[in-house]
Amino acid sequence: MNQSTLAAARTSNLDDAGYSGHVNPQWVRLLSLLEMNVRYTSCVGAELFTADGARILDFLSGYCVHNLGHNHPAVIAALHDELDRSGPAMLQSHVPELAGDLAAELSRLAGGRLQKVYFCSSGSEGIETVIKFSRLFTKRTGLLYCTGAFHGLTCGALSLMADSSWAQGFAPLLPGAESVPFADLALAELERKLASKKFAAFVVEPIQSEAGICVPSDDYMRAAQRLCKKYGTLFVLDEVQTGLYRTGPFLAAHHWGLDPDMVVLAKALSGGLVPSGALLMSDEIYESVYSSLGRSIIHTSTYSENGLAMRAGLATLKALQDEELGRRGEAMGQFLRRSLTEALAGYEMVAEVRVVGMLNGIEFRRPESWQLRVPFDAFRKIHEGMFGQIIVGKLFRDHNFLTQMCGNNFMVLKAAPPLTVSEDQIAGFVRAVKSVVEEVHSSSSFWMDALHLARRAVKI
Ligand SMILES: Cc1ncc(COP(=O)(O)O)c(C=O)c1O
Repeated sequence: MNQSTLAAARTSNLDDAGYSGHVNPQWVRLLSLLEMNVRYTSCVGAELFTADGARILDFLSGYCVHNLGHNHPAVIAALHDELDRSGPAMLQSHVPELAGDLAAELSRLAGGRLQKVYFCSSGSEGIETVIKFSRLFTKRTGLLYCTGAFHGLTCGALSLMADSSWAQGFAPLLPGAESVPFADLALAELERKLASKKFAAFVVEPIQSEAGICVPSDDYMRAAQRLCKKYGTLFVLDEVQTGLYRTGPFLAAHHWGLDPDMVVLAKALSGGLVPSGALLMSDEIYESVYSSLGRSIIHTSTYSENGLAMRAGLATLKALQDEELGRRGEAMGQFLRRSLTEALAGYEMVAEVRVVGMLNGIEFRRPESWQLRVPFDAFRKIHEGMFGQIIVGKLFRDHNFLTQMCGNNFMVLKAAPPLTVSEDQIAGFVRAVKSVVEEVHSSSSFWMDALHLARRAVKI
């Protein structure tokens, strides 16, 4: 079966009329355009099975949701158990013990001053909570963030990405939000801003994911933390992607021995099965918000401490530890780094391979040689994300690997499989990437694919 027949077969039995009619037709169009509109029938570990019998390996993990792999049996068993016991899942007038258990375990794993937890149902909601709590605690209104960051798409979170394309058309966002570059060189600028003493919080991803898997120098985070302390601004880490052992330790903050005032977690927290998020913070901050009986529910959300999310969270943390997945992810990351670096050496369009645990990026660059530069520039003019989408499409259609380019940097291919990924699966991924990169550099078929994509885009 050739590739377009295969793509047609994969999509032939899709019934997306309901979704197209009532949810998001543009998303269906985009997936169809990229020939990635596939019906998945089951997902186990890193493997995704489709209706036409194909097996795809998930090297995206739902943007770092599936640290444990899809449908981990321990989390499923815990959820069955919780459903079977008909417990007080959503009583709202009791003390949810499971939330206490999960908070205690999160505090133990995070360590330091992070001894209180506010539960929510998403990363964006965690960021919204940071905005409220940091303002109340510091009695300041300003918010500082880094360019290139991704913090979520609710209005508050979007205010911390106000200079990005995600914010277009949604102004006015929160006043008082300002950005600084994510770089050692910008520490002086960070200090200048902080010295104004108008900022309640500096919100930063310890490793910027969607900006292109940007790993700071060992000094950057510690220096930023020191400056925040000096000027009374809360140092807040968004670990929605980097947390829960994605980069090796439980928190990326642990790479540098940081002592943040608050940490936001979500995505992988409940094994990819129940919406859940958590904001970890110091006692002082918590007590400043919930400061009296009258304020005991001053900030809550209906589903935040619900029994299923809490049970899923507890089972997820246990499985991550029992299977030592942080250590395993780091070891597999080293293998990936060695193999990819060796496989991609010498290709002019590969700028760098970045690997931290199982959060990895392959950065491409504009070619020097004119044979490559002419088509590259031409397609970039049509859409700056086009080059990356051809790579993603080829990995998917020709090699059965699901990946994506970073959301704020279309020149970086992200590879973030479940932490349970095997050496064989990684070796297969490296072979697939090498084959696609070889095609980019040596065959006109890659650029013909780009042309077909451009034509389909006009038609669809
Ligand atoms: C680093 C980071 N922070 C926050 C968010 C927002 O999380 P959610 O989509 O659960 O609202 C995301 C989502 O991708 C993220 O990557």
